[in-house]
Amino acid sequence: MKLSELKRFPAPCPGMPGLLHGGDYNPDQWLDCPEVLEEDVRLMKLAGINSASVAIFAWKALEPEEGVYNFTWLDETLDRLWKGGVSVILATPSGARPDWMDRDHPEVLRVNADRTKNLHGTRHNHCYTSPYYRQKVQQMNRLLAQRYGKHPAVKMWHVSNEYGGECHCSLCQNAFRDWLREKYHNNIDELNHQWWTSFWSRGYSSFDEIESPAPHGETAVMGLILDWKRFVTWQTGQFYLNEIAPLRELTPDLPVVINMMGLYPGLDYWKLAPLVDVVTWDNYPSWHTDQCSTWEKAAETAFVHDLNRSMKQKPFMLMESTPSLVNWQNCNKLKRPGMHILSSLQAVAHGSDTVQYFQWRKGRGAFEKFHGAVVDHCGHEHTRVFSEVAELGQMLQRLAPVAGSSVQPDVAIVYDWENRWAIDALQGLNRNRRYAETCIQHYKSFWKRGIPCDIIDMEQDFSSYKLIVAPMLYMLKEGVADRLKTFVRGGGQLVLTYLTGYVNRNDLCFTGGFPGDGLMELAGLWNEEIDSLYDSDRNSLETGDGSFEVRDYCERIHPAPGCEVLGSYGSDFYAGEPALTRNSYGKGACWYLACRTGEDFLDRFYGQLAEELSLTPSWLGNLPEGVSVQPRGCDGETWLFVMNFSEQEQFVTLKGRFTDLLTGETVCGRTRLPVYGVRVLKAEA
Ligand code: GLA
Ligand code: ZN
Repeated sequence: MKLSELKRFPAPCPGMPGLLHGGDYNPDQWLDCPEVLEEDVRLMKLAGINSASVAIFAWKALEPEEGVYNFTWLDETLDRLWKGGVSVILATPSGARPDWMDRDHPEVLRVNADRTKNLHGTRHNHCYTSPYYRQKVQQMNRLLAQRYGKHPAVKMWHVSNEYGGECHCSLCQNAFRDWLREKYHNNIDELNHQWWTSFWSRGYSSFDEIESPAPHGETAVMGLILDWKRFVTWQTGQFYLNEIAPLRELTPDLPVVINMMGLYPGLDYWKLAPLVDVVTWDNYPSWHTDQCSTWEKAAETAFVHDLNRSMKQKPFMLMESTPSLVNWQNCNKLKRPGMHILSSLQAVAHGSDTVQYFQWRKGRGAFEKFHGAVVDHCGHEHTRVFSEVAELGQMLQRLAPVAGSSVQPDVAIVYDWENRWAIDALQGLNRNRRYAETCIQHYKSFWKRGIPCDIIDMEQDFSSYKLIVAPMLYMLKEGVADRLKTFVRGGGQLVLTYLTGYVNRNDLCFTGGFPGDGLMELAGLWNEEIDSLYDSDRNSLETGDGSFEVRDYCERIHPAPGCEVLGSYGSDFYAGEPALTRNSYGKGACWYLACRTGEDFLDRFYGQLAEELSLTPSWLGNLPEGVSVQPRGCDGETWLFVMNFSEQEQFVTLKGRFTDLLTGETVCGRTRLPVYGVRVLKAEA
């Protein structure tokens, strides 16, 4: 299907067509400065801001003492913003608790893995199980929904803030035990078997004995570690469902979202995505870092944008980003001129229908006073950052036709949180596992060629893709091997790598040979053993095309008759043995890369596959290093975002005729991009 044949998705905030431009707005920090609050609205207009995310951490301002409420300031805020043409994404305040609550109801305070109980302080640290907290949150959210559900400014619920972390209190322990009872059919023998607890005499006599993992307790049972992480995601989801019950009841037409944190390891976002109306995420790449080049940072960021789009297969929201710098890196560098516009439009290029900030105005004190904001401490609009934000605001208006459009990639990269947990928890190999980084490394070869990708987990439908790349698919959840076989049998191409098919969902190793669960037949090989390399060790992958450096991992594989060997090891006791294979299976093929190579090999390998499978979009020739092109389309139109993430001007040659949405120019053939330049081009028929 062509992109232009896709149907436009409705706006994430009903009644707000086009692209949303906004950010976190904390008037509760400025209530004693009415002139600042007035000035905010004037400045928002100047900056082309059309939405504000309000009251995210405002519990104390809303309920200064238990049962004593003050909504006046919020009434006034919503009215003022609405009068000024700014819509509101209204938050529920559960991300930070007021003093009286921690003082009078200490059960809400989180207990850490080492079983120390927190004191009152900071934020994002409540107990997810506490019946009192759940009930208070519902009560507060009901009041907010009753009072503001019909306010014309309010377009969406921003639930809590960046759910994360885990609580090990006795309430949570009991909830975990109940969750386990259900999962293991109230049968402790079944649990003992799945967790392999005969090892080191770890067996449990009853569910009541089970404790969450602890540094001074259980760390050796991987089944426990995995189930605990699954429980934390589940309990977070339950907490969320409790929060939104009054919102769904009283404001069924207002969408409800949470702001996610990219590749945050603590939650399996695939399990939370079905519970929200739109996927939103907070994006803070360290642009201009000394650790990698700008384009590498851009490719990494692109991967996460694509993940967020893939989670609901529809446009997402960039809920937070900084207009300039952050305050929590080792070194907090300013975004260089041009980078703010480029990085914001990168989100849009990958499917965001919004550009939003943390935050609107810098506070005067406490932890985030030096975090970037649209309005600095000087308080006026005559700053570099403000002008770039305002310029972007105008651009977003011109880009309104792009809103609701999407993309339908032929390629999917499998990145799976549970697999990541299992790889991180496993005892063995070396310390360089880098699962997420490896998925990104494979993704980069496609990014460089302007080939759009979905990022999916192993539970998603495979059938719409031509090519699936599943690096380090260590864990095979039940049914996955069969689904991969069906995919390849029907003509799909599958790339597998070292460390594939070792364990089942509960981290029990497959018997009968790796890759297990029947995947040996699809890969056409048996993996006898895996060698871990020291950081200073190197091997090589020798193919007809050349010799490529290998580090970290080498598997010794034995291809079955009929499986083609395309590359072999260059050295060590397994020199000459197969390291890269291709097995025809049904109408498709399964490739197996038994060792970890660098990007030189991956670029070559995926370049050839892209050609064979005609993956490269028709409008592109070769892209210079650092230039990214991403398409979006719908309702008869296609747009290309052409972005220069390099420190030099670049030229790209595009096939076809285009109109630049930002300048109105007609563009064809060789097109210039200044340093950090971006063009959004509408394809002409
Ligand atoms: C997170 C939070 C915000 C703010 C920013 C700072 O994304 O959600 O409240 O602290 O980080 O970068
Ligand atoms: Zn708890």
